[in-house]
Amino acid sequence: MSVEQLRIEAIKEIKEASTQEACEKVRIKYLGRKEGKLIEVLKSLKDMSVEEKRTIGTAANELHQLLEHELEEKIEKIKRSEEEKKNRFDVTKPGKRIASGHLHPLTKVDKEVRTIFSSLNFTIVEGPELEKETYNFDKLNIPAGHSARDMWDTLWVKKEGTNGLLMRTHTSPVQARYMESHNPPFQIIVPGRCFRYEATDASHEINFYQIEGLMVGPDITLANLKFIIETFFKKFFKQKIEFRYRPSYFPFVEPGIEVDIRLKGGKWLEVMGAGMVHRNVFDGVKYNHTQVQGFAFGMGLDRLAMIKYGVPDIRLFYSGDVRFTKNFR
Ligand code: PHE
Repeated sequence: MSVEQLRIEAIKEIKEASTQEACEKVRIKYLGRKEGKLIEVLKSLKDMSVEEKRTIGTAANELHQLLEHELEEKIEKIKRSEEEKKNRFDVTKPGKRIASGHLHPLTKVDKEVRTIFSSLNFTIVEGPELEKETYNFDKLNIPAGHSARDMWDTLWVKKEGTNGLLMRTHTSPVQARYMESHNPPFQIIVPGRCFRYEATDASHEINFYQIEGLMVGPDITLANLKFIIETFFKKFFKQKIEFRYRPSYFPFVEPGIEVDIRLKGGKWLEVMGAGMVHRNVFDGVKYNHTQVQGFAFGMGLDRLAMIKYGVPDIRLFYSGDVRFTKNFR
């Protein structure tokens, strides 16, 4: 075979080689020291004339260099494309989660509660956290000196030129605020932050959140309360729930009740205070208690969140510890 034919053949094979191993095979086939095709050409030189030795020998050496060079380039090219393949974006691979912020568990529960009550046609109302004693107590049928004031350990706020300022101990003052400026019939909820001057433990915090409910009209009864409460809890916990109603006492309702719930296989849990709005409260906001009646309830948002997510300690919500909050993504 002539050197020229070898060149054509070898170049073709290099072109066709698509892996490093294939290139190596081409190298051995043509440039191999023992049985490579070029060696064979060189070996055959010994029987040739001086003239032939020179021309063919030179051509063979040139081809050797050319093939070395071509192979090297080809191998480089293969390496490059393998590298590229490795870096190519694979849409079938699972994605990496991008670290991002998310809502605090209490915020999530708050939103859910608002959504459920909105779907039941309740209006969402808010009131001030820094409150007047009259709204927090007096207008709720808890005058100064009433022993029931002890039910709410109060953070009083002292400011020159004022008195009777406090951090609201419950969301109930918004009942009186709302009724003073609106006429029945209506149905509202009041989500909001409350404060109590208390030692903290797993179920008590110095601040926490409540949701107040108030529905007033000409013929609202405890049956309406029962329906609203049970509808709410079933939507909130998305499961069958047992309910228990126990008589209780709050100065601003009569009768007063306490509501307990039991989730699948669980214990009875006290979840809210409630009752029919006391006539003294209606009188205080200039409603005619012979013409309207209504129910009110108050529940702890933190407590709902603790039950829903199985959180053992209310203080975790306020710890600012991301190891806790990141569980609620
Ligand atoms: N405000 C009461 C509390 O904080 C709860 C309550 C609200 C009870 C409305 C009855 C009616 O304990």
